[in-house]
Amino acid sequence: MNLFKTDYKNYIGGKWEDSASGKTFEVTNPAHCKQVLATCQDSNKDDIDRAVAVANEAFKTWRKVPAPKRGEIMFKAAEILLRDKEDIAKIMTQEMGKPLSETRGDVQEAIDMGYYAAGEGRRLGGQTVPSELNDKFCMSMRMPLGVIGAITPWNFPIAIPSWKAFPALVAGNTMVIKPAEDTPLSVCRLAMVFEEAGVPPGVFNVVTGYGESAGQPLVENELVKLVSFTGSTITGWKIATRCADQMKPYTLEMGGKNAIVVMEDADVDLAVDGVVWGAFGTSGQRCTACSRVFVHENVKDDFINKLVGRAEALFIGDGLDDKVDMGPVINEKALHKIDGMVAEAKAKNTILCGGKINQQPSSKIPEKYGTFTETYGWFYTPTVITDVSEHDMIAQEEVFGPVVALISFNDTDEVIDMVNNSKYGLSAAVYTANVNFAFKAFNEIDTGITYINSSTIGAEIQLPFGGTKGTGNGHRDAGHNMIDNCTEWKSVFVDYSGVLQKAQIED
Ligand code: UN1
Repeated sequence: MNLFKTDYKNYIGGKWEDSASGKTFEVTNPAHCKQVLATCQDSNKDDIDRAVAVANEAFKTWRKVPAPKRGEIMFKAAEILLRDKEDIAKIMTQEMGKPLSETRGDVQEAIDMGYYAAGEGRRLGGQTVPSELNDKFCMSMRMPLGVIGAITPWNFPIAIPSWKAFPALVAGNTMVIKPAEDTPLSVCRLAMVFEEAGVPPGVFNVVTGYGESAGQPLVENELVKLVSFTGSTITGWKIATRCADQMKPYTLEMGGKNAIVVMEDADVDLAVDGVVWGAFGTSGQRCTACSRVFVHENVKDDFINKLVGRAEALFIGDGLDDKVDMGPVINEKALHKIDGMVAEAKAKNTILCGGKINQQPSSKIPEKYGTFTETYGWFYTPTVITDVSEHDMIAQEEVFGPVVALISFNDTDEVIDMVNNSKYGLSAAVYTANVNFAFKAFNEIDTGITYINSSTIGAEIQLPFGGTKGTGNGHRDAGHNMIDNCTEWKSVFVDYSGVLQKAQIED
């Protein structure tokens, strides 16, 4: 596929269409910000309403396709994703910026989700339970909801849409998805995969555009039976309010301020590996990124020396270059937000390394991808900040960039409270050799995901993904949990006695 200067349309009812208004927007490469990758549709309420109506119509027949057959289609989609993994990873690196090794991982997460959902086609079970009465049969079964509206972020352009789409589709729902405007190409590609796998027209629809013009009408459309959102806390709150007005269910996956605890008995080298990967992998742009490290005073100096050395040695540049460890951040706005937060921290805390915008990193785009006069992008140097207290801004606010704050501690009894001192509760990790503390930690840390001797990132799709407190609204993505989100329970009672039997009534 020729990636450059390509027109992408909306995918509605199995057809690729221009937006109703004819407006478009450009998708650029964050590693070469003047490089236009593609033109996409700048959609509005008309496009959304049409897509939802089409999806609602398609629901009538898709829900009747036997679930194991739907599962087979999901299996085929996973196989196509596997076949096209490299191709999709290259598209994704160019629209999102993270290195190819990471975009391959992103596609792999979608493949995993596809295989998992395929199996669920034969496991969409309920319960059968005994009745209080003779000759009466009781069971519960899952019913699809209808049209699911998904709004997905740019940091995992295909993994997160797949956490939502595969379970929704296998359970018999249809979907209209509005991908992030920075990275719509991966989701358009997912539509092509579903089409080739045999997903019927109208079952999976993609409408690209911006939050206010396309996202909001999707949330507000009364035929949308569930809104599933991953993204910023501020947008999540707006969605929650609008859904509450309509008594519509919604799932939210939002911010994080994820901590790693390095105990006195930790393997310091392993902990440094975990912090480098957690804080600087994906340029710190994972909801699960490590942005606070609580390090015990007794290992602090050793830990800091090693961490700063590793951060400074990271090779930054275009993610298509195999040598690159860390790509750009997503766009100019993000770059300046990160830099602004670091500048604010400078007034109070100590910047040990990084803290700079670096628009011309050492790596240039490999020639095989074309030649561009503009070689600058939205790069930020990996930043380590120390002399931080748990209450400081940089230890409380989500940065979503390659910035990590170090907080030292002495009192092991207090460190779990320090970790829990956050409005978010997504992920945390503890490095320790003490099994007793490890168990105490994962019992008492208030997050949806907790790791022992491993970084804050790297959740697998077969377990629930999500967090406590301000991270979400109690739902979880991925795994089996998305099936719970996108189905309703129906309790069925079959009385085969031939007489009126009254439950709970004594005669
Ligand atoms: C996200 O950060 O939004 O656990 C998703 C991880 C990945 C998914 C991250 N599997 O880091």
